Amino acid sequence: MYEPFYGLKEKPFGVTSNPSYLYLSQRHQEALSCLLYGIRERLGFIEMTGEVGTGKTTVCRALLDQLDTRTRSAFIFNSNLSELQLLQTIVDDLGIRTTSRSKGALYAELNRFLIEQLAAGNNVVVIIDEAQNLSLKLLEQVRMLSNLEAANEKLVQIVLVGQPELRDKLNDPRLRQLRQRIAVRYQIKPLEREELPRYVGHRLSLAGSNGSGPIFTDAALDSVYRYTSGIPRMINLVCDKALLTGYVMDQREIGPELVVRAISELEGLTDESRA
Ligand SMILES: Nc1ncnc2c1ncn2[C@@H]1O[C@H](COP(=O)(O)OP(=O)(O)OP(=O)(O)O)[C@@H](O)[C@H]1O
Ligand SMILES: [Mg+2]
Repeated sequence: MYEPFYGLKEKPFGVTSNPSYLYLSQRHQEALSCLLYGIRERLGFIEMTGEVGTGKTTVCRALLDQLDTRTRSAFIFNSNLSELQLLQTIVDDLGIRTTSRSKGALYAELNRFLIEQLAAGNNVVVIIDEAQNLSLKLLEQVRMLSNLEAANEKLVQIVLVGQPELRDKLNDPRLRQLRQRIAVRYQIKPLEREELPRYVGHRLSLAGSNGSGPIFTDAALDSVYRYTSGIPRMINLVCDKALLTGYVMDQREIGPELVVRAISELEGLTDESRA
């Protein structure tokens, strides 16, 4: 509701992962390049981890946009699946038409598809987001998928994406076979302080700010950074709230006091509740 007040066309700091708002920080660019490299070079398993809200899903979506037409992909974002459901979802997402419903038949269909794609000079990638939630049993099943190998060529590249718990899970001795196969690992870190003005400015300009829109002062950004430690989702939450607070207080310039107030409200500490 504050958009017209600041001359914006839409809310700049939404918390859904919107690919058109992608800001390639150095870390996000590196993550993307690592994933693309692992996939293009057919390295098999690739792991990307990062704290909650650092932009893992955003990078996955950017990755899907950047894959060439010779790469077939499946993006699994629901990790709460049974073995059969996981296999079924991968098969469906790759566009393999099948009426089979048994594990063995799906596995055979997938195998046939992978060999076909290799023969056609295509590559296949399966991205599994929220992989920290997969059980050891399911992770072991994922490893089995990569057993489909022809003449030393990896038929399928599997990208495991998740919170740091994923790394701990993969360190479990029971998963050592899988761990040994991971060829590329990347850990996304939060934004650096110096990247914050670019991140915020990027979102403001995409939301339609033409320079006469809201301005976050440098001191305000210091406060944002201190509270969020550079985690994009947190930055979005705080900046959105700060814009709302500025609107309510009729201030287009966002200074640190507005940010502090916004943070208090986010934490449920309004003036009334503090009194
Ligand atoms: N590089 C980026 N450019 C623009 N926005 C970003 C970027 N990285 C993260 N964001 C924003 O931060 C929020 C969180 O990002 P995302 O959902 O990708 O994080 P995540 O690491 O997948 O989080 P979780 O651990 O909860 O799955 C989203 O609103 C997203 O738009
Ligand atoms: Mg995510």
